[in-house]
Amino acid sequence: MSLFTLNEVKKTFNNGQIKEEILKGVNLFLREGEVTALVGSSGSGKSTLLTIAAGLQSASDGEVLFEGKNLSQMDEESIRKIRATDFGFIFQFAHLVPFLTVEEQLLLMLDVSESKLKKHEQMSVVERILQLVGMEHRKNAYPSSLSGGEKQRVAIARAIIHKPKVLFADEPTASLDSKRSKDVMALIREITKNLKITTLFVTHDEEMLSYADHIIKMSDGLIVQHS
Ligand SMILES: Nc1ncnc2c1ncn2[C@@H]1O[C@H](COP(=O)(O)OP(=O)(O)OP(=O)(O)O)[C@@H](O)[C@H]1O
Ligand SMILES: [Mg+2]
Repeated sequence: MSLFTLNEVKKTFNNGQIKEEILKGVNLFLREGEVTALVGSSGSGKSTLLTIAAGLQSASDGEVLFEGKNLSQMDEESIRKIRATDFGFIFQFAHLVPFLTVEEQLLLMLDVSESKLKKHEQMSVVERILQLVGMEHRKNAYPSSLSGGEKQRVAIARAIIHKPKVLFADEPTASLDSKRSKDVMALIREITKNLKITTLFVTHDEEMLSYADHIIKMSDGLIVQHS
């Protein structure tokens, strides 16, 4: 089943006097529980597409259907709710809060997602998720003492702790070396498969494509290949 469908999505930016069409009518669907990679040259519109799918910015035209509901027609508060409960995000850099420990970053995320859990239940969720990403031994560490790969593991934990239905990742391995990139991508795949999360990630790295079930290629604002 398709959890996510984009129909003829367009995005136009006004750069000064000039109107630029960055997405020119994109159609795509994401199947539940599968991992899809989005590739294409720099400037082809990958991040724009990902952020529109994730409700972080609106489309100029077309439909963004999540579970049959059209994000393009929702008010900001409804979209915010979906983002906080149903979506998870990972970016190129972990963007951890410098003055919070690993454990505190995750507890904060549970608050943001309006989790109804009691404190001790939250602690056990955090414990479990840290085990899942292999970071339980660093739960009291601050971000400055973590390696790039470790930070990204915490970012993965933070992105999935509220059990989202969809995970969006924009170049999650771009700041890592080859070995760490493979470890992080393998972890994203393993966890999202186990938790049955639908995943869309952007990458420039050919080696990361082996972790995807499907590959979508963009060129100049259009999808040119879907496999
Ligand atoms: N807010 C904006 N205002 C104006 N132009 C924008 C805006 N956001 C993106 N663009 C333009 O849209 C085009 C596509 O940008 P986008 O970030 O989606 O590309 P990308 O495929 O993710 O590239 P990269 O691989 O370098 O990250 C670029 O030409 C960019 O300059
Ligand atoms: Mg980008």
